[in-house]
Amino acid sequence: MYNKWLLNKPVKKGIQPKIDISDDKLVSRPLVIERFKKILQPDKDHSYYHLVCSEHGTGKITLVRIASNEVGCGVLYVNIPANLSELDKAFGKAINFAYERISVTRQWLRKINSDDTPKLSECAKALQTFRHASEMYKAKYDKPIVIVYDNVSHLVHKNPEILDILQDDAKHNADDRKYIAVFVCSEGSVPQRMESRSAWSRAKTPVMEIGDLSEEESMEYLIKNHKIKEVYAKKLFDLVGGHIIELKIVADDFLAGQKFEIIKQQVLDKVEKKFKSAQLLPNDQYYELGKSLICDLLKSNELSFLEFKNYFDRAEKLNEVLDSNIFSYHPEKNIVTFQSQSVKSYIQEKANIFHIYENFKIIEID
Ligand SMILES: Nc1ncnc2c1ncn2[C@@H]1O[C@H](COP(=O)(O)OP(=O)(O)OP(=O)(O)O)[C@@H](O)[C@H]1O
Ligand SMILES: [Mg+2]
Repeated sequence: MYNKWLLNKPVKKGIQPKIDISDDKLVSRPLVIERFKKILQPDKDHSYYHLVCSEHGTGKITLVRIASNEVGCGVLYVNIPANLSELDKAFGKAINFAYERISVTRQWLRKINSDDTPKLSECAKALQTFRHASEMYKAKYDKPIVIVYDNVSHLVHKNPEILDILQDDAKHNADDRKYIAVFVCSEGSVPQRMESRSAWSRAKTPVMEIGDLSEEESMEYLIKNHKIKEVYAKKLFDLVGGHIIELKIVADDFLAGQKFEIIKQQVLDKVEKKFKSAQLLPNDQYYELGKSLICDLLKSNELSFLEFKNYFDRAEKLNEVLDSNIFSYHPEKNIVTFQSQSVKSYIQEKANIFHIYENFKIIEID
């Protein structure tokens, strides 16, 4: 009863999440925000759940926050923690519960940790609260409530069974028009798992992907928001592209007085570490395979997932390389590309390592 009473506030008033970016540093992305607002305001017959994907640091949660502030109410937000023992707390926070008073997920973790497959019937109790919230909300506003699960990538490696439970429940509740779930993730392994399950039939497809800023938006961000001269803004953009977190880092470093050459070296060093962990450098396990993969990708800019898969004889190898942030899987189009402009900049700089020759017309910086 107490928990039901506590639910009133977030359900009726909305969560109004805080946006930690000052107005003068914020890039307004009206088209993507409109897409989010549509997802966050389903009509009463909406019967799909959603998956939103992109690389790390493309501004997903900032967009969700802006959109949910504009929408006002009916959005609950669950931030899946990296440490899953805090999952209870995350659910509690989402629905304004006093943490000590509810154990939403402890029973799932206990089940899973004891190697016992959790059954939906056992876990369903934990999601009852969301259903109750939806009922209250629907009775008042005649539309389903929306639950945003952010950072679901944290589940896919450590406790994929929990992701399965949330997905199954999302499917049933979309069918019943009770609540609409929105899964937000930053890794290709999430859509791959979710798409392989029967509950995928109720997911809204194609999956929504948040892309990088366009060249125009990036230049505006650097020139207007950070007051960087156009000539340097262009150099920074050519180095890291429109990936917002990378743009922010290089812009902050530049304004702190670092020379462009130093910034460039730092970016390239960071990418080299990714190549190292992907085992794509000379004498590494995937070097030979990677060389031809990189050449082919440079020629075509994108490969279908099947073409990409053909380079690997085992699924584990493919996942290992895909998880190391050199390449990026795009579920919306089912293709693979380089993960970022900074990866392309690294390859351009180290063309000799990958046997890429001048006349190959390698880098076409988009
Ligand atoms: N529209 C924007 N204008 C200015 N800065 C932004 C904007 N969107 C995001 N940022 C900044 O970029 C960084 C990454 O944003 P955010 O956390 O929203 O990305 P994300 O896609 O959720 O990342 P992750 O996948 O790692 O969870 C943050 O520092 C944020 O302040
Ligand atoms: Mg995020």
